[in-house]
Order: sequence, then structure tokens, then C-alpha cells
Amino acid sequence: MQPPQEKLFFYKKCTSCHSGSLSLKQQKKSMEQWMETVKNMKKHGLSISSKDSKAVAEFLSGGKKK
Ligand code: HEC
Repeated sequence: MQPPQEKLFFYKKCTSCHSGSLSLKQQKKSMEQWMETVKNMKKHGLSISSKDSKAVAEFLSGGKKK
């Protein structure tokens, strides 16, 4: 039920600081770990709502997609 929009969203949110975001996706983290990571990125200046960070974490962990 995830629109491909999530992916674009991820690229928009994360690539401003991480140019090779695909390598981020290769890290094997659970959804919870990604939630933590995204939270940490907020300290670096990422602005994201908690709903959106969940979507990104879901995308990165492979979450509901499979
Ligand atoms: C405002 C800049 C900025 C944005 C936006 C940003 N990051 Fe980061 N990120 C950093 C910096 C600086 C570091 C290195 C310091 C650190 O590890 O905390 C880092 C490190 C990381 C790391 C390696 C450390 C770890 O915890 O595994 C990952 C993975 C990561 N970022 C993922 C993301 C994701 C996913 C997003 C999008 C939701 C994102 N980042 C958005 C600045 C940013």
C-alpha cells in the first residue's frame, strides 16, 4: 500500500546531506533502528514530521513493502 512517492520523499529528505543515499539503504537496519537514525538526523538539521520519519524508516528497512 506504499506509494512510490515514499522513495522520492526519502531522496529529497536525505540526499541534501547524503549524496549516495542508495548506500544508506544497503545498511541492514530494522525499522526501529532506522527510526532512531532518522531521529539522530534531526539533530543535524533534518526537518521531518514523525509520520514522515516513519514512512522513511519503513522504506529503508524494507518494512511493509515486502
Ligand atoms: C542536515 C543534514 C543531514 C540530513 C538531512 C540527513 N543526515 Fe544522515 N547524517 C548527517 C551527518 C552529519 C552524519 C554523520 C554524523 C552521525 O553519524 O551522526 C549522518 C550520518 C548518517 C548515517 C550513519 C550513522 C548511523 O546512524 O548509521 C546514516 C545511516 C544516516 N545519516 C541516514 C540518514 C537518513 C536516512 C536521512 C533522511 C531521513 C538522513 N540521514 C538525513 C547529516 C544529515
